[in-house]
Amino acid sequence: MNTPEFRVFGTAQAVASAVAQHIAGAVQANPAATLGLATGKTFISIYAELIALYRQGGLSFAEVESFNLDEYIGLPAGHPASFRSYMEEHLFSQIDLPAQSGHLPGVEGDIEQACRDYEAAIAARGGIDLQLLGIGQNGHIGFNEPGSPFDSHTRIVDLTPSTIAANTSDFPEGEVPPPQAVTMGVGTIMQAKEIVLVAIGANKAEALDKAFRAEPSLDCPASALHNHPHVIVYCDEAAMGGK
Ligand code: F6R
Repeated sequence: MNTPEFRVFGTAQAVASAVAQHIAGAVQANPAATLGLATGKTFISIYAELIALYRQGGLSFAEVESFNLDEYIGLPAGHPASFRSYMEEHLFSQIDLPAQSGHLPGVEGDIEQACRDYEAAIAARGGIDLQLLGIGQNGHIGFNEPGSPFDSHTRIVDLTPSTIAANTSDFPEGEVPPPQAVTMGVGTIMQAKEIVLVAIGANKAEALDKAFRAEPSLDCPASALHNHPHVIVYCDEAAMGGK
């Protein structure tokens, strides 16, 4: 097992700023980097900081390609809670990433073929250089819910009631998340060269503890990261259990 490096900050804002600098540094070092991107509440302030760094100059995404972790199945195109809409709003529309370079899993037509195509597109880029991850309160990474095989790849998954409950606030009043999504697999994530996992807030403390202080277990998908050689965890003190 490998022990990830923990970088712990006093505030959520300090975490966001440090993660944005990490992403910017990776792109400056390799302007044609392939990024694995995440959505969720955790990344809103991170992307805002990254946009601020981009506006300062000396940072371009013109040669970058990005692959998001996941997307809901069954939302109409342009739905405000789709991860495509999230990415357009919080990042893509505000940086120079070419429109065709920001990929999300395909959720229309033959979805199983789209999953295979997604894996092939990542492989054609030579794999993901830097994968960003949040963590669910149940230890999920992407939408790999507890029980997801550690060698799983991009596929259709059922969301757990706790994930649906956690994400309902992202939906317009009266709507709930769909029951299914497409996600990169745990195995897809594990193939990334470097992984940055971000956890903010006391409600992530239990999942973080289970992920990195216990033996890897299918009950906690994030615990697969123990077997990855280059993981950095950025978190605030609350996510560390206030320690
Ligand atoms: C998002 C994703 C999820 C989230 C996780 C944490 O693309 O794949 O794994 O990273 O659910 O979400 P927040 O940041 O909203 O707590």
